[in-house]
Amino acid sequence: MVKVLFVCLGNICRSPLAEGIFQYQLKQAGLENKIAAASAGTSGWHIGERPDPRSIEVAKENGIDLDSFGRKAVSEDFEEFDYIIAMDQSNYAHLNALPGSTIKGAAKLYLMRDFDEKGKGQDVPDPYYGGDDGFKKVFTMLDRSCRNLLEEIKEHHLR
Ligand code: 4NP
Repeated sequence: MVKVLFVCLGNICRSPLAEGIFQYQLKQAGLENKIAAASAGTSGWHIGERPDPRSIEVAKENGIDLDSFGRKAVSEDFEEFDYIIAMDQSNYAHLNALPGSTIKGAAKLYLMRDFDEKGKGQDVPDPYYGGDDGFKKVFTMLDRSCRNLLEEIKEHHLR
């Protein structure tokens, strides 16, 4: 099983959406038994919480149900997961500073938009303080990035 962890700040807006989109794409590709996805936050502010209603809504509009509960990213995630995908530079720096990240971590840590051909290496903007259209933009960005991530994993692990 190849395991992917999506990480943002609160684990209620961006990373649960990335998790849901990626799981949807995995099902469509018939790969849900070979690749698994989860999400976490660098903060512990929303532990145990459902995703933000605006993330739930934009996912639903696209036929996707979000079923995650907030949790905090921990050092052990670097043991557990093969890909750890930060939504922005700040999340990346936080993860990179976790004890444990240096053991096997550096090679596993990516930015979500490393996989986005339209804006490689840029941040997935935090939509939390904005309006609904921010969530639509983030959805499109994540959908594109997740597709390319899936291709990369297929190429490197499933051949
Ligand atoms: P996320 O967005 O990192 O995409 O989940 C945020 C959610 C909550 C907060 C900030 C960002 N907050 O300040 O509570």
